[in-house]
Amino acid sequence: MNQVKSPAKPAEPYYKHHIFFCLNERKAGEESCSAHGAQAGFDHCKMRIKAEGLTGQGMVRVNKAGCLDRCAGGPVAVVYPEGVWYSFIDNQDIDEIIDSHLKNGQIVERLVLPDAVGR
Ligand code: FES
Repeated sequence: MNQVKSPAKPAEPYYKHHIFFCLNERKAGEESCSAHGAQAGFDHCKMRIKAEGLTGQGMVRVNKAGCLDRCAGGPVAVVYPEGVWYSFIDNQDIDEIIDSHLKNGQIVERLVLPDAVGR
C-alpha cells in the first residue's frame, strides 16, 4: 500500500509577518477601502518596511489584496500568521502597527478591528 506523505512543515514561516492591505476600489459612490485612504496606508507601509531593511525571508512582506469582506471597518489590513485585523486612518496608525506589531510582535489593541465588523 502506498503511503501519501504530507509535506514537511517548516520550522519557521517564510515571513515573520505578512501584512495584506485591502485596496479594493468600487464604482463611484460605492464604499470601499480605496475610498478611505487604503492606497496611502499601503504605500507608506511598503516604503517604511523597505527603508528599514525589513524585507525578505524571515522578515516582513507587505502585499495588496482585493476585498477582504470587512469593508465596514475600512480601510483594513490583516497581519499573519497571527490573523490580527486592523482598521487604520493615517500614517501614524501605520507607523504604530509597524513599530509595535511588525517589529516587536505587540498587537496594537486600539486599532484592532472588532470581530463583529463585516461587510
Ligand atoms: S473593500 Fe476593503 S474589505 Fe471590502
